[in-house]
Amino acid sequence: MTTRLPTFTKMPYGGDWNPEQWERPVWDEDVSLFEQAGIDLLSVNIFAWTTLQPGEDTYDFTRLDDVLGLLESHGMRACLGTGTAAVPAWMATRFPDVMRVDEQGRLHRFGGRHNACPNSPTYRRFAPALAGKLARRYGGRDVVALWHVSNEFGGACYCPRCEAAFRLWLRERYSTLDALNHAWNAAFWSQTITAWEEIVAPNELNVQRGQRTTALQGLTLDYQRFMSDALLGAYRLEADAIRAEIPTAAVTTNLMGTYRPLDYRAWAPYLDVVAWDSYPSPSDAPATTALRHTLMRSLKAGQPFMLMEQTPSQQNWQAYNALKRPGVMRLQSWQAVAHGADAVMFFQMRRSPGACEKFHGAVIEHHGRTDTRVFREVAQLGAELRRIGNVTLGSRVPARVAVWFDWPAWWAVENSSGPTAALEYLNEVTALYTAFHAQGYAVDLVGPDDDLGRYKVMASTLLYLLPVGAAEKITAFVEGGGIFLGGLMTGVADESDRVFPGGPPGPLRELLGVWVEEVDALPPGHANEVILQGKLDGTFACTLLFEQLRVEDAELLGTYGQDFYAGSPVLTRRWAGKGQAWKLGTSLDAAGLRVLVRFLCDEAGVQPLVPDLPDGLEVTRREGDGGCFLFLLNHTAQKCQVTVPGLSGTDLLSGEPIDQTVMLPPRGVRLVHEDQLEKEPERY
Ligand code: GLA
Ligand code: ZN
Repeated sequence: MTTRLPTFTKMPYGGDWNPEQWERPVWDEDVSLFEQAGIDLLSVNIFAWTTLQPGEDTYDFTRLDDVLGLLESHGMRACLGTGTAAVPAWMATRFPDVMRVDEQGRLHRFGGRHNACPNSPTYRRFAPALAGKLARRYGGRDVVALWHVSNEFGGACYCPRCEAAFRLWLRERYSTLDALNHAWNAAFWSQTITAWEEIVAPNELNVQRGQRTTALQGLTLDYQRFMSDALLGAYRLEADAIRAEIPTAAVTTNLMGTYRPLDYRAWAPYLDVVAWDSYPSPSDAPATTALRHTLMRSLKAGQPFMLMEQTPSQQNWQAYNALKRPGVMRLQSWQAVAHGADAVMFFQMRRSPGACEKFHGAVIEHHGRTDTRVFREVAQLGAELRRIGNVTLGSRVPARVAVWFDWPAWWAVENSSGPTAALEYLNEVTALYTAFHAQGYAVDLVGPDDDLGRYKVMASTLLYLLPVGAAEKITAFVEGGGIFLGGLMTGVADESDRVFPGGPPGPLRELLGVWVEEVDALPPGHANEVILQGKLDGTFACTLLFEQLRVEDAELLGTYGQDFYAGSPVLTRRWAGKGQAWKLGTSLDAAGLRVLVRFLCDEAGVQPLVPDLPDGLEVTRREGDGGCFLFLLNHTAQKCQVTVPGLSGTDLLSGEPIDQTVMLPPRGVRLVHEDQLEKEPERY
């Protein structure tokens, strides 16, 4: 598929603007405030289905004509929503098939949003029809910078139509019932299927026990895949309707970072640009947000993404909605850019006068004033973005380290009952990512279909599912000189969550040179120790799971310190071809992980961007036609100083020259446009 990227002459700045909630004079006021704040891209029409289409055969584009005309006359552009994210009342009433059935089997009624069944014939008729009409009407206009299909696709439906579509999906995947029954190990508890029509959607009426565990994991895992595909299918219907009218249109939808129900890797080929909504809770570590940005960047092999939404100040859907402290919105905006964002956008431009988002932060608050902290901060950032212009646009974030992130593995490992209820895929992957990131290493997140060729280190934890070809790919990576770390529960099951013959690490057994005899699972609060050996040094705490490794052909580099398995292996390395295959059998604490990943990077000859990066400081680097840019972000409330050997350039935000030693004020940001380097920039 050809890539159709939206084009901008500077980094777009703006957000969701819902003028349908106000009278016309307010729109003029809004637009003049946007001008004051340097805002130039507005997401419009996101929730306007009913006014655009008040009946089955009636359409009315008058208001949208007016909105787009107003933006155009002020030199602003639109990220044009297709408006289909909330089912109109008339549609839900006349065509109840458009509504979803939930996990408890209840058919939903009109109200709310993100509520259409992806397999409803009504939805599949009306949604693309509207998208096509919008494209026909506005497609040729420069004011439309890109297309925003629906909004935050997500959730699931369990209606009879989805169930029927699931059966077809399974027929495609397995061809025969024998293959399906084998893949699911359906002989267990007499779950064997004897005719395709007997297959039911897995929910709380049958196998599902709440959100987490299920009695038949193969079935649940396949439904998770199917529903992600079904929602993607709904997105594609609208995207195709737009492209049928305007083949060059840039089309996307807003993703949600580490959102469990959708396998965004499967979505990425159908998005012209990845766009996502970042809402860190105040308790999220900056590295957690960094991981989400990295994941979004990695979906399209490093292509820049759009920060489509963030709140300028406060959220409304957390239990306690703290204000973003002064400087935090700016810092988080630059953090997105540092990780590859080419747009900074907000939700919402003007705060709703009523309904459930009236307490959600906005650029323009209910008081409508500009002499406020939030408006000032928004306008200051607008001025900075104008000042840096287009110089960073299109630049990449090169990395030599990759961490494995795979949705089906996430689903499967959490679908299981046992070995521990405390297992959270994101916690483990985030800890591993953080160990690299906190030490200044540039990291990508990769999945089974990605090319590993550009990486020198590929580290994983909970690489629980090995799809066909993954073991061969990892083996080739190691034999070609890469360093691979297999963490907890590596290589347990195949794509249908059927355990590999011989147990873990399944097809990676030869590469790793170990097998797993048993896995101890102890409650939170119980720890053991990992005693590192050889060139590695130190004793670190470990928790959660404690694999009993049996070494066949590997070097022993760490042992347990306590319990009946004290002295037995927990960390091993096997040399294979030109590379190394490591296995870690537990959840190591942050300090231990740092030591381990630094050792792996040293072995691979991978350098951090900044040596001895102080805690709370974040560093990334982008490279492109406009030059090389080092981003330094101070996430602490104290000022901080850091030395970057060989660095010389100009801080684009302050205009100051930079020479090796950089001072950062509390929550400060430096964007250093590097002088042309003697050292070769690494091209990707
Ligand atoms: C999401 C949605 C928006 C809004 C915000 C509130 O990102 O896309 O419509 O509800 O959350 O935080
Ligand atoms: Zn359905």
